[in-house]
Amino acid sequence: MSYPEGGAVNPARFYDSPMARILVVGASGYVGRELCRVATAAGHDVVGTRLRGTPAPGDDARVLDVTDAAAVRALMAAVRPDVVVNTAYMQDPPHARPVNVGGAGHVAAAAATAGARLVHVSSDVVFGGTSADPLREDAVPSPVHDYGRTKADGERAVAAAHPGAAIVRTSLVYGGPDGPASRHERVALEAARGERDMAFFSDELRCPAQVTDLAAAMLALAATGHAGPIHLVGWEVVSRHAFAVAIAQNAGADVTTLRAAPCPPGRPAALVLDGTLARRLLPSARLRGVSDVFGPAGYENDE
Ligand SMILES: NC(=O)c1ccc[n+]([C@@H]2O[C@H](COP(=O)([O-])OP(=O)(O)OC[C@H]3O[C@@H](n4cnc5c(N)ncnc54)[C@H](OP(=O)(O)O)[C@@H]3O)[C@@H](O)[C@H]2O)c1
Repeated sequence: MSYPEGGAVNPARFYDSPMARILVVGASGYVGRELCRVATAAGHDVVGTRLRGTPAPGDDARVLDVTDAAAVRALMAAVRPDVVVNTAYMQDPPHARPVNVGGAGHVAAAAATAGARLVHVSSDVVFGGTSADPLREDAVPSPVHDYGRTKADGERAVAAAHPGAAIVRTSLVYGGPDGPASRHERVALEAARGERDMAFFSDELRCPAQVTDLAAAMLALAATGHAGPIHLVGWEVVSRHAFAVAIAQNAGADVTTLRAAPCPPGRPAALVLDGTLARRLLPSARLRGVSDVFGPAGYENDE
């Protein structure tokens, strides 16, 4: 059989079999948990890892600290996965850099040694957000804050250790009415209910991704040989404020309490990821926009 474009480490095991052994690093997290659910429902043999978090019900997720290279290698040798999906990350110092760069590199190196396909999860914040033009995968990363710099350096560490790895850049991930609630949804609802005082940026543009869509698209991506970055985001560009309004309106909360404000300096303002490559490579993947998920009535963008 022939593989689509890709790197050297793309075992036939996954492509030839409808059931693969998938190691989800960070299975106790928001994206990892949904990925485990979707992959298990699709008939795959799923092994998850956690660190401090709670495993999903029925999941006996193994404890793994990705900053421990020997532990990563040992787990990889014990599990012998066909596919590894690394969702583990930390947002803030002091853990962000060791996990997002060093840990990502350890997972990538161990996956390469094990001959496993790797899907690494990155973020739109690898870009600086100075223009509303859609960013393709070949745009040069230009992060403007520390977290973004760790994600960009993590991408480089992964590509160096595992040149065949697919690197998924996604945006604000959320569940919508039929999915698990994300922290973005909890925050918007708390603000709408007056339980949290915060403003939502009316000029910060993102392409939120529904979590089940993202999980299914990552599984489909694993079955290709694509190497390098790919943008898996919802097709629709929305402001942070419009996103919060959609969430609150859908929950029947008072959206007039959601304060809009301009994005302050030092934050990426426009992170519009071009999803053309994903649509071409994964034609059956569903990557809905916010108005598809919440319905047009629950959504009106800021001008
Ligand atoms: N959520 C979003 O809106 C969003 C947007 C853009 C990109 N992303 C990317 O998507 C990925 C997943 O995000 P998420 O929202 O699912 O994150 P999350 O809910 O915070 O989950 C993070 C996961 O990483 C694990 N982890 C943290 N430190 C670890 C370590 N030292 N060793 C091993 N595992 C460790 C956590 O384990 P424990 O909980 O067990 O400690 C948890 O399972 C990340 O790469 C993130 O950059 C997310």
